[in-house]
Amino acid sequence: MQDQIKSALSNVIYPGFTKDIVTFGFVKDIQVNGDVTAVTIDITSSAPEVAQQITDDANAELAKAGIKNVTLNVAGPKMPRESSSKGKNIAPHVKNFIMVSSGKGGVGKSTTSANLAIALAMQGKKVGILDADIYGPNMPRMLGVDGVKPEVNGNKVMPIQAYGVEMMSMGSLMEDGQSLIWRGSMIMKAIEQFLRDILWSELDCLVIDMPPGTGDAQLTLAQSVPVTLGLTVTTPQSVSLDDSRRSLDMFKKLNIPIAGIVENMSGFIAPDTGVEYDIFGKGTSQPMADEFDTAVITEMPIEPAIRTGGDEGKPIVYVAPDSESAKRYMALAETVWAHIEKINEEGGVDNQAIQPTTPPGVSACSTS
Ligand SMILES: Nc1ncnc2c1ncn2[C@@H]1O[C@H](COP(=O)(O)OP(=O)(O)OP(=O)(O)O)[C@@H](O)[C@H]1O
Ligand SMILES: [Mg+2]
Repeated sequence: MQDQIKSALSNVIYPGFTKDIVTFGFVKDIQVNGDVTAVTIDITSSAPEVAQQITDDANAELAKAGIKNVTLNVAGPKMPRESSSKGKNIAPHVKNFIMVSSGKGGVGKSTTSANLAIALAMQGKKVGILDADIYGPNMPRMLGVDGVKPEVNGNKVMPIQAYGVEMMSMGSLMEDGQSLIWRGSMIMKAIEQFLRDILWSELDCLVIDMPPGTGDAQLTLAQSVPVTLGLTVTTPQSVSLDDSRRSLDMFKKLNIPIAGIVENMSGFIAPDTGVEYDIFGKGTSQPMADEFDTAVITEMPIEPAIRTGGDEGKPIVYVAPDSESAKRYMALAETVWAHIEKINEEGGVDNQAIQPTTPPGVSACSTS
């Protein structure tokens, strides 16, 4: 019976995402008692309409499978959280989390994450980078620590040090060339372990380099820690912009404040003459920024030294601080930090619980 119910519920897609509630691990309990069954679905982060939608879809799927007499208990967060420090944080010694996302692959998330993190460290912050790209980890190479194995301390793993930042990546844990064929739930486990079982220092911020898209990794992250800020990387072509829209939409759905858009590969600066050429277009992300009430915070040109820096493990912001790109990464870091300070002044974020709106005339009561 349990299996039949699980199988029916595995057709219920979590609203706004591509995966179902069973894969996400939201189906917590199935109690069969005679011919009555009670199912508990625990969605720790959600708006009331999401709970409603899941209830409706689950009822429809159970009916379709001919399963009767099921009581659904779709539980959202018990009480509204007041600030980021009150939200669930399985890495409590990390003060702020920056999620670097994109809709499309290969647009420069990892390059942006690495250079942004190092720029923040150069500006005096204590910074970590978490490579959350479980399938395609390339942070070790970008930071020149390919092949370096982390120290293990009891059942905790020490992050790897590079260019003044702490880093952890699946690439540092697995043998060279070993490929990963993991199911969704294992990606979620891996990300949770990266947050919980890595001995990060007391960090001002952790920059999280996400895999492309809006899937398990993104949702897992938002449920495990209060994400302070989201950054979307895009290239100026319209195909990339279409995908970026989804990335921005995901931040909105997860209630993650958007720092802005990094328009990467925006124009090309010829290394010999310094003349700037327009290759993929330039400034094309502005209408999308307006649509989401945010800003294009950086236009990062195509610069050969950015790519070689990535390939050779010599991030441009560190090795060529006088280059135009390095200056833009430093400016990006300042803008991002200003956003973080503002968000914390305003009481922090809460991407795990969207507060239910109180009907007029009814005063909110605290359950604490
Ligand atoms: N502004 C730039 N100028 C020149 N090369 C760049 C620039 N940004 C990124 N690159 C290069 O483009 C390639 C893709 O960048 P990167 O790996 O950062 O993208 P990604 O979005 O993380 O990709 P994936 O989705 O595969 O994780 C890399 O070789 C990188 O060095
Ligand atoms: Mg990447």
